Amino acid sequence: MTSAVPLPPPASVLDLAPAAVVPVVVVEDAADAVPLARALVAGGLPAIEVTLRTPAALDAIREMSGSVPGAVVGAGTVISPEQVTACARAGARFLVSPGWTDVLLTAMRACGLPFLPGVSTTSEVVALLERGVRDMKFFPAQAAGGTGYLRSLAGPLPQARFCPTGGIGPDNAPEYLALPNVRRVGGSWMVPAEAVAARDWSRIEGLARAASRLSAGGTCR
Ligand code: 3PG
Repeated sequence: MTSAVPLPPPASVLDLAPAAVVPVVVVEDAADAVPLARALVAGGLPAIEVTLRTPAALDAIREMSGSVPGAVVGAGTVISPEQVTACARAGARFLVSPGWTDVLLTAMRACGLPFLPGVSTTSEVVALLERGVRDMKFFPAQAAGGTGYLRSLAGPLPQARFCPTGGIGPDNAPEYLALPNVRRVGGSWMVPAEAVAARDWSRIEGLARAASRLSAGGTCR
């Protein structure tokens, strides 16, 4: 699908929820979706990225969006226009991709939801800026160069704003959030797979609460 008329970029994902940390979740069983989202919201992390890596993902997005007040549920690992449509229909409020193409970007723009296309190289950043996109996911953050790489981009490309994801945890999140071109980070550290499998929602809420104290500027609030 292509668009003859360039569409304006939608509102930033940053406008949807103020928390500096976006939990990235993998839901194997849709029955876990609502209690998991409740735990994250109660812990202070309302913006939740549900990855499209499991058959339960779309149901999870639907149930979290429909049943958890305060949750701002988005879809992650979105890599096709068909997935863009399916996620929007399921109630996703934002879209995240690990990388991008013009086909994907056009579909994300046309659907009207805020989106974070993924980049890992300078040329990809420049290409997105050329297309009017300033908010990007930096993925896989640690493997692609980490804070040193992002710091190096801040001088020549100050317009670009990043949500680094991949290999980030409580120890290095503050260093990312201290960068001038980072206002939030994504990660799965507050939703350990074994805690989800054990339905240990209070542990997840506690991990979320600790993560919610992080804020851009590298400080705790
Ligand atoms: C992912 O690939 O699942 C996300 O980028 C999260 O990565 P993480 O598990 O390293 O936080």
